[in-house]
Amino acid sequence: MELHYLGTSGPNNTANYEPRIDGVKIGEVQLRHRTAKSEKLPEGFESNVYYEIDPAFQGKGYAKESLKLLLEEARKVPLSEIIIVARESNIASQKVIEANGGEWLASKTDAEGIVHKKYRIVL
Ligand SMILES: CC(C)(COP(=O)(O)OP(=O)(O)OC[C@H]1O[C@@H](n2cnc3c(N)ncnc32)[C@H](O)[C@@H]1OP(=O)(O)O)[C@@H](O)C(=O)NCCC(=O)NCCS
Repeated sequence: MELHYLGTSGPNNTANYEPRIDGVKIGEVQLRHRTAKSEKLPEGFESNVYYEIDPAFQGKGYAKESLKLLLEEARKVPLSEIIIVARESNIASQKVIEANGGEWLASKTDAEGIVHKKYRIVL
């Protein structure tokens, strides 16, 4: 698997990558050099990372591998740590984070009653 770099843009220096298998796109991965969040997420739950694997390719370890490769990119920036936020209901994402050394920092419930978990990975 490789992370194909697409470019960096925007106020948070958002670097976009395509995880690819044999040249075929299997998802999307994003590294924000500056932490940011959508309006809906609780205050203090800004994060550096987003990843998504296309349904046809899920459950094969590709998200774990994508995050591992993204951590290498983050070290090159260089960042000293990254923050990742996942919904408490998103067990797969939490496994991906924990498999990559994620340390749980805090949980918070948003205005819609959804619980979000914040993790740190020291680089
Ligand atoms: C979360 C997501 C990226 C995981 O991708 P993936 O490639 O299937 O993940 P992996 O194959 O690396 O699996 C990671 C772990 O989650 C487990 N898992 C996968 N799907 C699961 C599910 N629906 N429920 C519970 N566990 C699941 C895997 O078995 C694996 O567990 P293991 O560590 O015990 O082996 C993918 O489900 C996705 O794109 N979801 C939509 C977008 C999203 O939620 N992104 C994360 C935002 S924080």
